[in-house]
Amino acid sequence: MEYGIESSPLENLHTACLVVGIFESQQWTPSAKYLDEVSGGFLSGILHLGDMDGRTGQTCLLHRVPNVLAERVLLVGLGKEKDLGDPQYRDAIAKMVNALRDTGATDAVSTLIELPVGGRTLHERVRLATETAENTLYRFERLKSKKEDSPRPLGRIAWSLSEQDGARAVQEAVAIAGGVGLAKNLANLPGNFCTPTYLAEQAKILADAYSDRTELHILEREDMERLGMGALLAVAQGSRQPPKCIVLHYHGGQENDPPVALVGKGVTFDSGGISLKPGEKMDEMKFDMSGAAAVLGTLQAVAALALPVNLVGIIPATENLPGGNAVKPGDVVTSLSGQTIEILNTDAEGRLILCDALTYAERFHPVVTIDIATLTGACVVALGKHPAGLFSNHEPLARDLVKAGCTSGDRVWEMPLWEEYQEQLKSTCADMANIGGREAGAITAACFLARYTKKLSWAHLDIAGVAYLGGEKKGATGRPVPLLVQYLLDRCASCAKTE
Ligand code: BES
Ligand code: MN
Ligand code: ZN
Repeated sequence: MEYGIESSPLENLHTACLVVGIFESQQWTPSAKYLDEVSGGFLSGILHLGDMDGRTGQTCLLHRVPNVLAERVLLVGLGKEKDLGDPQYRDAIAKMVNALRDTGATDAVSTLIELPVGGRTLHERVRLATETAENTLYRFERLKSKKEDSPRPLGRIAWSLSEQDGARAVQEAVAIAGGVGLAKNLANLPGNFCTPTYLAEQAKILADAYSDRTELHILEREDMERLGMGALLAVAQGSRQPPKCIVLHYHGGQENDPPVALVGKGVTFDSGGISLKPGEKMDEMKFDMSGAAAVLGTLQAVAALALPVNLVGIIPATENLPGGNAVKPGDVVTSLSGQTIEILNTDAEGRLILCDALTYAERFHPVVTIDIATLTGACVVALGKHPAGLFSNHEPLARDLVKAGCTSGDRVWEMPLWEEYQEQLKSTCADMANIGGREAGAITAACFLARYTKKLSWAHLDIAGVAYLGGEKKGATGRPVPLLVQYLLDRCASCAKTE
């Protein structure tokens, strides 16, 4: 879909469909009021007939509205004005997009960005609307022999506002939605397609698309052996697919600016290994590379916006399978950092591949390091599917991530990373165990990673609850690409100020 801006008066717009919001409580939106006036009370008449009363979820398609050049007018119910927050706003945009898709309209102009959404600026509303529209239109049809329905005519949505107010917001949103789309496509792709090798190939395609500002290195199994990435190799040894550690640099900043490091868990299928998972919903473990997908999606969006920042994306990628050569409960391995790990549960593999990748990140002297991982079921139990879990050893970084989460609508919630939890990881025969018992599973996983990030300003995002939806609506969300891009946008804005 193409997105744009239209700034002519509503009645003069030559569009296939003009979209206007209607509140429940007889409060007119500015555009509805204006259209009602130019059309000689046409909208009032419709409301009077009772076909539409502004309740959330309602839509009503009108043709031939007097004195209006648009071929159609779509009314979208908004509920009560005082209740209008992010969720209601998103629902209204999604309703609009679905209703437009069902018409023959080839383009539309929407006034919904004018709505007073609690605490939101116009820039943020344009961003949210554009990103929500793209999310609503997304389909994963690559593996269907027949596509869902005939190609829909709708090709362009424009927001009704002035160029000056909206152009940058649309540009940001389109780049973010592109990154979200890439992350979704990668995560939705099943494990038999999306292997570590495939992820490395996709990183290559991305690097080639921005070859003037990117640099790609792939660490192969032999490189990992030479370096001593014993924890990552232990996870990979049960699989026939060769592991890859993808290292993708983006140079948008000054030559000597230290990079932001993004480390993404890339387990392309997590069976649990010898500590095999139960069968139910095991298919969803194809999404266990969502952290990797988010790193690539973020890099793509940042490159598309040519943000003045240096980044390094590090993606340890492997399968976790119970082969004859697989690592066994009780095995002890030596990580890249030199610390030894007693692997008590082979299903706690994410932290094993991340610890080596985090140690590897040190060599780039990052200003901050953020890892992104579908790390624990316990995080889903604790927080559900709305915020990602945030853990950090650097207060300012945590604060910036919380703020970026609020701005982007892709929120995080901070959890404690206290020293007291560390004792749950003690081992009788190695420096640490890879599991910390039943209590506080998301926290002990983060505590494990904290042992590898002492030299870094670091945050860990546990995205197990937010990266995908299960059941009926099974599919990747592309989160936390919007959060990460927002964090980097905010960083660039504050760097520009201090220069
Ligand atoms: N990939 C899983 C975490 C996960 C669970 C993500 C559910 C999404 C939904 C991870 O590798 C894992 O298996 N973690 C274990 C850790 C346990 C063995 C300490 C878990 O959460 O059960
Ligand atoms: Mn696991
Ligand atoms: Zn996993």
